[in-house]
Amino acid sequence: MKGRLLPAGIFLVAVAGQVQAADLTISCGAVGAELQLCKSGVERWEAQTGNSVEVVSTPNSATERLSLYQQILNARSSDIDVFQIDVVWPGMLAPHLIDLKEYLPQNATDGFFGAIVDNNTVEGRLVAMPWFTDAGILYYRKDLLEKYDLEVPTTWAELTEAAQTVQAGERDAGQKDFWGYVFQGRAYEGLTVNALEWIASYPDGGTIVDEDGEITVNNPQAVKALSHAAGWINDISPQGVLNYTEEEARGVFQSGNALFMRNWPYAWDLVQSEQSSIRDKVEVAPLPAGGEDGQSAGVLGGWNLAVSRYSDHPDMAADLVAFLASPEEQKRRAIEGAYNPTIEALYQDPEVLAAVPFFGTLYDTFVSAVPRPAAVTGDNYPRVSNAFFNTVHEVLSGRVTADQGLESLEGELERIKRRRW
Ligand code: GLC
Repeated sequence: MKGRLLPAGIFLVAVAGQVQAADLTISCGAVGAELQLCKSGVERWEAQTGNSVEVVSTPNSATERLSLYQQILNARSSDIDVFQIDVVWPGMLAPHLIDLKEYLPQNATDGFFGAIVDNNTVEGRLVAMPWFTDAGILYYRKDLLEKYDLEVPTTWAELTEAAQTVQAGERDAGQKDFWGYVFQGRAYEGLTVNALEWIASYPDGGTIVDEDGEITVNNPQAVKALSHAAGWINDISPQGVLNYTEEEARGVFQSGNALFMRNWPYAWDLVQSEQSSIRDKVEVAPLPAGGEDGQSAGVLGGWNLAVSRYSDHPDMAADLVAFLASPEEQKRRAIEGAYNPTIEALYQDPEVLAAVPFFGTLYDTFVSAVPRPAAVTGDNYPRVSNAFFNTVHEVLSGRVTADQGLESLEGELERIKRRRW
C-alpha cells in the first residue's frame, strides 16, 4: 500500500516511488501538468544519483496546501524532506527550513532573479531556491474578438463591455453556456491575488498594506475596483466563479465556454495542447488597467523549493533541490509546461521563446509584477490574506457592499496589526 499516515491524521497517497525504499520525499503541486513535470524531473535526478524519491501530491488551493504544510512542520515531522513553497511563505515558514547556503555552492543563485532570491532570504538565510515565477495574465479568444471586430481590452471597463457583447452574441448563436469572463473567485489565496490585481490597477488603489506596514485597503479606488468586479457576477461571469480556483476557470475556458480568462502562464501549455478545443484560437495580454489613469497590475506568484529542518537527509535533499532548480530543468519545464524560469538568461533562450513566445513579449509583466504584502506582514500574512479574500468573497456574493466590506476589513486588519507585523 502506497501511503502514509501523517501526524495530523492526513493520509497522503504516494503517487510515485516506492514507499519502503524511498530515500527522500518531495511534495509537489498538482495544478495542470505540474505533478507530471515534477515527477519527470525527479526521475532524472534518481537516474543520475541512484537515489529514490517519493513524490506526494498536494491540494490545488494554495490556502489548503499551506495548512497541510503547517500541520506537518508544526509536528516536526520528517515525513517530507522537500517542500514546494509559495512565494508568499518564506518569511512565515523560515523557522522550519534549513539554510541552503550551508549545503549548496556559493554561486548557487548566480543568474537567478535577485528579487526572488531576496524574497527567499530570511534574516540572511536562504530558505528556498526559486523554482518558477508567476504573474497574472489575461487569456483571450482572438477568433471571437475578430468575429465581433473588437480590440484586446486595456481597461476593466473595456473588458466588461467586450464580454457582454460577445456573450450575448454567442448565446444568440446557440451557445447557451457561454460566459464573458472567468477568474479565481473562491475564498482562498487565489482570490486575494485576483482582487489585488483589480485594486492595484486603479490609480492609488494600493496593495492592501503598503511597504511601511500601513493599512491602505479602505480607499475610494479599492471600493471602485471591488464594486466593478461584483457587477460581473451573473452578468459576464457565472455564479459558479465564486467557487473557482485556477483549474475550474481553465476548464470553462478550455472547453470553449468563455471569452476571457485570468490565469497564470501554466494554462498556456494546456489551452494550446492537442486535446484543447480552442488550440490556436488563444492569445495572452497584460491584465487590464483600472481606467485610463490606471495600470496593468499582474500580481507576482511563483513557487520555490525548500528543505525541512526535520529532514533526516538534508544534504541529499539540498542536492535534489539544486538539480530541480538548475537551468536545464527550468528550461525543460518552460518548454514542456510554460513554467516561467527564475533564471534571467532563459528569457533569451531561442528554444524557450519558440515554445512560449509571451515569455519575451510580456517580459515586463513578469519582472514588474506586483508583490502581495507578505514580507511586511510576516507571520501574519495568512491572517491578512484570509481576512481580505473573505471580505472580497462577501462583496462578490452581494452580501455586503464594497464600502461596508472594506470598512470592516480595515478594522479587522488593525486588530491583526496590533499583534505586530
Ligand atoms: C499560483 C501562484 C501562487 C499563488 C497561487 C494562488 O500558484 O504561483 O503564488 O499563491 O497561484 O492561487
